Amino acid sequence: MSKAAVVVGVQWGDEGKGKVVDALAEHFDIVARYQGGANAGHTVIADGRKHVLQLLPAGVVRPDRIAVIGNGVVIDPEALAREIHCLEESEIKIGSRLRISDRAHLILPWHRSHEIAAEAARGDAQIGTTSKGIGPTYEDKAGRRGLRTCDLRDEASFRAKCSEMGKEKNRLAAALFDSVHDDGAWVDRYLAAAEGIVPRLTDVSAFLNSALDGGHRVLFEGAQGTMLDIDHGTYPFVTSSSAAAGGASIGTGVGPTRLGKVIGVSKAYATRVGSGPFPTEAAGEDADKIRERGGEYGAVTGRPRRCGWFDVPAARYAARLNYLSHLVITKLDILDHLAEIPVGVQYELDGNRLDSFPPDVDAVERLKMRYISLPGWQQPTFGLQNYDELPQRAREYLQFISREVGVPIAMVSTGPERHQTIWMDTSSVPKD
Ligand code: IMP
Repeated sequence: MSKAAVVVGVQWGDEGKGKVVDALAEHFDIVARYQGGANAGHTVIADGRKHVLQLLPAGVVRPDRIAVIGNGVVIDPEALAREIHCLEESEIKIGSRLRISDRAHLILPWHRSHEIAAEAARGDAQIGTTSKGIGPTYEDKAGRRGLRTCDLRDEASFRAKCSEMGKEKNRLAAALFDSVHDDGAWVDRYLAAAEGIVPRLTDVSAFLNSALDGGHRVLFEGAQGTMLDIDHGTYPFVTSSSAAAGGASIGTGVGPTRLGKVIGVSKAYATRVGSGPFPTEAAGEDADKIRERGGEYGAVTGRPRRCGWFDVPAARYAARLNYLSHLVITKLDILDHLAEIPVGVQYELDGNRLDSFPPDVDAVERLKMRYISLPGWQQPTFGLQNYDELPQRAREYLQFISREVGVPIAMVSTGPERHQTIWMDTSSVPKD
């Protein structure tokens, strides 16, 4: 019986995975992040204090858990050093609890400036990226010219590689964007930040596999969500990594049969930040009310999120792709005010019913959604901790989602704090 589980976003990110990972981490010894970079913003509220984590796995907030950053993550050393410093300032001691893959790729300054210039050049077709240099870093990784965390170990060689690469990047920037990005002044800053990274460098695959061999419990933490996955999301309006559960294997070096349960996190409604298709997007007052009640503004960029309704076909698509064993529904309380709650139940494309998500973005934009309306409960559910305390209609709403998506619900979140959680099915976590 595997003592592992993967937490994956079902939607377009921002599903509340930070809170969920923090709650689940009670039952795990190690939490390992497997992809993405500082484009993610996971909010965790612990003991009344709010922490926004971008690179560190949410499990780090619990004092005795080991936090691991896998090879699939892209690391900006300065951002990581800042994040570690911030947590330590708030009296969360990290020390030797953090392991960082010796094979993770580094975000370098030209990745950020290249991304900003490339986005500007796309005009109306902008992806709406987070400007953290994520896409260009993964491009260099796939292009086999990236620098990795292990390169930080040898200062002289790191300087030489940066200088060589900087020349090439400057030639490219001059040719493509009529600008020069790199003056090399950042190398000293990176090497200073590396002082907190190099001692923590680890062969993460060896570390996690031997932990699992020893009976330790490992939670794999995804960032973003299935619909932003580079292969399976609404391409090209996606992020540049494998956010779906399969990414956990590639992004940490743990074989697929060891991953255990797959827990998909979804809001009780839907949001999206950045451009790209969003079949259940709501407009006007409906969307504004959800945004205001749910505080739907990007944790990293502060951008207002687009808001809409639960999308059953998209959730079914995510259930299949990730082979979800459990669902977690977050932010149920945000829907407390509604007399009726629309739920998207069937896509139609050019007059035909569609049972899966189409691959091309133009088709997704043309999808017509068939909705049904479920009765709202119009009673406060904020902070509830027992399923039996939920209004009958809220229970029916959850049962409807679970039945339609075909996955049992393990947990419902009714507020940002750890204890504002309803456990429904504890088979999602390993027994001690
Ligand atoms: P990138 O990951 O910065 O390249 O951005 C690509 C797309 O993914 C943009 O639409 C971003 O808004 C979106 N995105 C990236 N990270 C997150 C996240 O953590 N939550 C929600 N959207 C994200």
